[in-house]
Formats: sequence, structure tokens, C-alpha cells
Amino acid sequence: MRVLLAGATGQLGWELLRIIPEEMQVTACGRAELDIQDATQVETVVTDVRPDIIINAAAYTAVDRSEDEREQAYAVNARGAENLAIAARSVGSRLVHISTDFIFDGRKSEPYLENDRPNPLGEYGASKLLGEQRVLAILADKTAVIRTAWVYSAHGRNFVKTMLGLMAERDSVRVVADQVGTPTWAGSLAQAVWRIAGLDLVGIFHWTDAGVASWYDLAVAVQEEALRLGLLVRAVPIIPIRTDSYPTKARRPPYSVLDKTSTCTAMQLCPLHWRVNLRKMLQDVKDQRGG
Ligand SMILES: NC(=O)c1ccc[n+]([C@@H]2O[C@H](COP(=O)([O-])OP(=O)(O)OC[C@H]3O[C@@H](n4cnc5c(N)ncnc54)[C@H](OP(=O)(O)O)[C@@H]3O)[C@@H](O)[C@H]2O)c1
Repeated sequence: MRVLLAGATGQLGWELLRIIPEEMQVTACGRAELDIQDATQVETVVTDVRPDIIINAAAYTAVDRSEDEREQAYAVNARGAENLAIAARSVGSRLVHISTDFIFDGRKSEPYLENDRPNPLGEYGASKLLGEQRVLAILADKTAVIRTAWVYSAHGRNFVKTMLGLMAERDSVRVVADQVGTPTWAGSLAQAVWRIAGLDLVGIFHWTDAGVASWYDLAVAVQEEALRLGLLVRAVPIIPIRTDSYPTKARRPPYSVLDKTSTCTAMQLCPLHWRVNLRKMLQDVKDQRGG
């Protein structure tokens, strides 16, 4: 099967390229080769490649900056996604599109189902929700939307790598303890994307790693695992704080655990616990640093 991957240089794109299934021939495009905001370029590339599947791993993911750069967030996350769906429709391709837990407001206290009512708290979540709605309006019978959360990888910028840096430099680290979700290794997300693409599934799917954590819990686990692997040489105190002690431009959902029951059934695959995957990512970091 021919696959066109947009956003190949991001965290998910990078992990997708590490585990390409045998039956998939991938044309991988970073923003330089395929700017999804550019409808003409999207049409040209898609017509040229004539993919059976387009995977959209491209996104404007700067949550706080989206509040000031609203236009930019919508141009990529809504219009860019729409451009891909229109081009996919024109060549009969399927589309696998990635979305986020930030489409929810976090008022629930049990895992979010695929059909729960979205209510984004910020511009990033709103732009991603519009992206979902547009691709489904254009190509519902050939689109899989995969919502995920708290993504990290050895490649790119993310919370886990920020924590590793802070823990190496500072004498203590303060981390928000009242936002709860599920850390998700981009390698696990990549596995789900390939499975959904290979099985020809359509609809909305929730995929994160298994389990629940606060950012504080994740920071504690990062330190423990990093010490074990020798990525850190000393432990520093990790201090749990409340969200209101760490103001950010964008509001974030206090609870954004996604229910994966339907996805696991459809895919016949269930995620591993986030801590198991955290170890794999940190091993990747260690390998990148030369063991
Ligand atoms: N990261 C998270 O915590 C998180 C959580 C929930 C959902 N998600 C979703 O998961 C998906 C993958 O996220 P990720 O973590 O892999 O993001 P990422 O590391 O930020 O990668 C996004 C990629 O998209 C590229 N991009 C931005 N604008 C583009 C454009 N106009 N045309 C083509 N490419 C463009 C970026 O390129 P540049 O580097 O050149 O900008 C980057 O390579 C996204 O849909 C995201 O919304 C992520």
C-alpha cells in the first residue's frame, strides 16, 4: 500500500518511520516537502504520489502560543487538515488524522468516550476540533481520527525531555499535580496508527498508553527511571504544585483521560502501561547520547 506521511519530522512522524510495516511503501514529507497549509502544494503532492492512505502527523502543537497565534493554529490544524481530506477524496485515498484530548474541557471524572461532548478550553484544542470536524465532513467514510494525549518521544521537544534537563540543572523542580491524564509514548501511538491504517478502520478512536498520571507523577517516574539508566546522577526534590501556582496562557483540562475500550476491541490491540513505555523512550534517549 502506498502511504503519504505529512509531518514526518515531528515526534509521531519520526516514530512512524522507525516501524514501517512491510506492506507499506511510505513517501515521507516534512514541512519543507509538504506544507499542509498550502492547498495547491497538497494537491500536487497527493496527485503525484497517489497514495492509498494519507497519514496526517503534521500539526501546530504549541498550546500556549496558539492563544496569540490563533490564525497560525487554525491554518495548520483546521485548514491544513481540510486540504489533506480534499486531496485524499480526489484520488480515492483514505486518511488517518491525529487529534487531541484538549478538545475536552476536563470536567468529567471518568475516562472520555469517543462521543462525549467536546468543549475545548483554548485555541489549540478548538483548532484541532475544527480539524476533526472538517475531515469527517469531507471524507467520513474513509477517515480515521485518532485522539491521543501527552505525547513524548526521544525526538523533539516534550515534557519528559524538559524534566530531564531541569532535573540535571536545578536543585529542585516544581510540577503541577492537579492535572490528570495519560502520558503517551509516540512509539506506542505510531503502532496504533499503523494498525488502524492496516485494518482500514474508520471513525473516531481514542489511543493513549494505559493508566493515569498527573504531570507530577510523570516527573517522579522520569527521575526514577532516568537515575536507574544513568541519565541523571543525583535525585532532586520534586515539589507538587497546583495549576494556579503555574499560570499558563492557555487553560488546560484538569482531567483528560481517554477511554480506549472501543479502540482496543476494534484494533485487537491494547496499549501498555505508560511507565513501561516511558522506560523505552528513556532508553532511546540513552542510546542517542551514545549509551
Ligand atoms: N505533543 C502532544 O503532547 C500531543 C498531545 C495530543 C495530541 N497530539 C497530536 O498528535 C499529533 C502529532 O503530534 P507531535 O507530538 O508529533 O507534534 P510535533 O512533534 O510538534 O510535530 C508536528 C510536526 O508538524 C509539522 N508542521 C507544522 N506545521 C506544518 C505545516 N503547515 N505543514 C506540514 N507540517 C507542519 C512540524 O514541523 P515544524 O517542526 O517545521 O514546525 C512538526 O514536524 C498532532 O496531531 C498533535 O496535535 C500531540
